[in-house]
Amino acid sequence: MEQQIITSALATDTIKGLSSTPKFLLSRYFYDDAGSAIFQDIMKMPEYYLTDCEEEIFTQQKELIARKFFGDDDSFSLVELGSGDGQKTKILLHHLAGLDIRFQYIPLDISQKANDDLQATINREIPGIEIHPRTGDYFKQLKELNGFASNRKIILFLGSNIGNFSEEETNRFLTQLAGFTRPGDKLLIGFDLKKSPKVIMDAYNDPHGHTRRFNLNLLVRLNRELDADFDTEQFDQYTEYNPETGEVKSFLISKTSQSVYAGALNQTWQFEKWEPVFMERSRKYDYKTINNLASHNGFRVVYNFTDSRNYFVDSLWEKM
Ligand code: AVJ
Repeated sequence: MEQQIITSALATDTIKGLSSTPKFLLSRYFYDDAGSAIFQDIMKMPEYYLTDCEEEIFTQQKELIARKFFGDDDSFSLVELGSGDGQKTKILLHHLAGLDIRFQYIPLDISQKANDDLQATINREIPGIEIHPRTGDYFKQLKELNGFASNRKIILFLGSNIGNFSEEETNRFLTQLAGFTRPGDKLLIGFDLKKSPKVIMDAYNDPHGHTRRFNLNLLVRLNRELDADFDTEQFDQYTEYNPETGEVKSFLISKTSQSVYAGALNQTWQFEKWEPVFMERSRKYDYKTINNLASHNGFRVVYNFTDSRNYFVDSLWEKM
């Protein structure tokens, strides 16, 4: 029978990652329906301080955040990259809805379902908000928006999602964002700060086994979508934190010498005993690095909103 070879981005990236030395997979593929549910479990862990910190910042400082958003004109588009369930943004939207300002909320997400749910929730809970969700790749959406949104833009990129990027990806991302913004436009980016490695390890080195499930779920996804035959029992999950680079890195480690076949790709990969597969980076920052990232990309830091423990910062930048 003729072999049907799948050529999705997931397929291409999987072939690339598992054929490389050392091997890697991309954490952006963690978020299928099951993975998104596991990430919700992670966010509910008391040890996963990131969500609590950002919620505290939004709850306690929404008035100040709103004041810092306004320019001379009173109308803007609030564009959120990777809006998901909009849990934290809703706190801000509630506040903005009560002020005498004109703005539209444009959540961008890769998931149509997340967008539909968010739109329904906003319409029900904050009916005064003008919401226009857009589904798909951030940059495709931003490009289209750039064409017709003539008013000022405020772009939200929350939750330390930027921490998943390598240095090269971070620079590419900020260069592209700079290209989509005009002088006076603003950017609110969430960065997780360097802190006691013990606190960081408690959040990532897996007190409840969620991180392990989160990582192994990608293998389950590859089994399902690429007809692969990963045996998840044959892999350990391992987390390290490097306080110099600020990188938390997550790996899957092959416990045995084994080969894995992906039917949809007609490819076999050999895993040596104890061979690692790099799965995810969650970078932690310091203020100096944040300042440099802003200035190298044509932004100035307007204000840093931080939580009471100084664990996390939502940094507000303005395009120069
Ligand atoms: C959603 C990328 C912010 O890196 O902290 C949580 C994902 N990975 N635990 C993070 C994650 C392991 C999370 N981000």
